[in-house]
Amino acid sequence: MVAKKETREVVVVTGGNGLIGKNFLSAIASSGRVAIGCDLDEISHKDLQSQTDSGEIASVVMNIVEPESVNAAIAEIHQRYGRIDALVNAAYPRNSSFGDAFFDVDFHSFCDNVNLQLGGYFLTSQKFSKYFVEQGRGVLVNLASIYGCVAPRFELYEGTAMGMPVEYPLVKSAIIQLTQYLAVTLKGTGVRANCISPGGILDGQDHNFLERYKSCCSSKGMLNPEDLNSTLLYLLAEESRYVNGQNIIVDDGFVL
Ligand SMILES: NC(=O)c1ccc[n+]([C@@H]2O[C@H](COP(=O)([O-])OP(=O)(O)OC[C@H]3O[C@@H](n4cnc5c(N)ncnc54)[C@H](O)[C@@H]3O)[C@@H](O)[C@H]2O)c1
Repeated sequence: MVAKKETREVVVVTGGNGLIGKNFLSAIASSGRVAIGCDLDEISHKDLQSQTDSGEIASVVMNIVEPESVNAAIAEIHQRYGRIDALVNAAYPRNSSFGDAFFDVDFHSFCDNVNLQLGGYFLTSQKFSKYFVEQGRGVLVNLASIYGCVAPRFELYEGTAMGMPVEYPLVKSAIIQLTQYLAVTLKGTGVRANCISPGGILDGQDHNFLERYKSCCSSKGMLNPEDLNSTLLYLLAEESRYVNGQNIIVDDGFVL
């Protein structure tokens, strides 16, 4: 039973407790939409304003690698709002071995990380797009990365605890392909799928790394999560209705 028909657009963000996800929830709510943060735990509202002038932030627990959990979340959101307008895939599941040096990566751990990250994006895309097709409209936005577009630049990480795990570029390039696959599969249904590939996001990284990274860019270097918002809002909006299957790189020129 549907409680009420929501008049505002309802946008689901997986990984809503994360660095990028949390920022997206604020941007979506500030644009007058209902932003639903879906994560392994309830979205922590302490640094988020749950009610803006016209929008709202809400929370639904969802594990993106559990089919029953994804089904239950869709059912709960539909029951609460009677509509879902968009899915933004911004979760980042990985196991405790993620980040091991290439020659130390255990095969089973490798498969696990690929299944978690790529499998999770596949699962939510599949389940939500089925809902969207039945509804006759919907928007999918997947978060990929610059490292889905260019070879790793290992020299940037030298002398730091950071690195570029082998699974990451493989998953991210596959997410760009998944997005194209979705766009083609969903042609003519009123549902479209696009990708954002961000550059690195500032999060207290090593100073030397930041300087080296910046030397690859046009002006700022690593970005703030907010620097992705206008691209996300564009892809969610009617103005981008003819943009489909695309990967928009937001990286201050890093890949050039
Ligand atoms: N941070 C960056 O520099 C950067 C750069 C480019 C692309 N990205 C991409 O952006 C996305 C978000 O990255 P982030 O930095 O915000 O990550 P993050 O680690 O800060 O947040 C990820 C969130 O995903 C949640 N999550 C993990 N497993 C989950 C599961 N099974 N089901 C539901 N939620 C789960 C976590 O609880 C966490 O809240 C990822 O796809 C990442 O690859 C990040």
